Amino acid sequence: MRKDNIYLIGFMGTGKTTVSHKLSELLGFEEIDTDEWIACQQGQSIPEIFENYGEQYFRGLETELLRRLGEGEHKIISCGGGMALKQENVALMQENGVVVLLTAEPETILARVRGDDGRPILNGNMNVSYIQELLAKRLPYYEAAGEVVIATDLRSPQEIAEEIEKKLNSGKICFDF
Ligand code: S3P
Repeated sequence: MRKDNIYLIGFMGTGKTTVSHKLSELLGFEEIDTDEWIACQQGQSIPEIFENYGEQYFRGLETELLRRLGEGEHKIISCGGGMALKQENVALMQENGVVVLLTAEPETILARVRGDDGRPILNGNMNVSYIQELLAKRLPYYEAAGEVVIATDLRSPQEIAEEIEKKLNSGKICFDF
């Protein structure tokens, strides 16, 4: 089966957006950031969407976007941290591309997201123990969805992007550049 798109998944702060930029430079693929796209389409920030309509509404928008993106090819889709928690989303991603899971330790995540109030899930919960607990709950879903797994602690986005390219080229994954 030919797989044309790359879906970057993982917990908040695992570097999906920055790695997406580097990977786009390396491969020349178009980038789509699901949070950015949804915020633009709704004319509201992610915290405003959560505040005004609730999390379930936002999750519905995520799935709707994945369905629309299914048609495309040669795209890097940087997904919000909750995208891989829903089986329907995972099926859509695996059908239309390679799912790359980025991981990081809770301490690394906290250092990356601290001071950013754009993530409603972490508002009021900016500490290692909360992140650790939520990460433990989500990890089985992330691991079930990810076909390629890359640890991002202490590594630059450039190094991570190069490793992804190498893994996709290794022949284990049937990927069409
Ligand atoms: C979320 C992660 C966020 C964003 C929303 C919910 C989550 O995206 O989609 O705040 O549930 O993990 P990032 O992973 O890009 O921060």
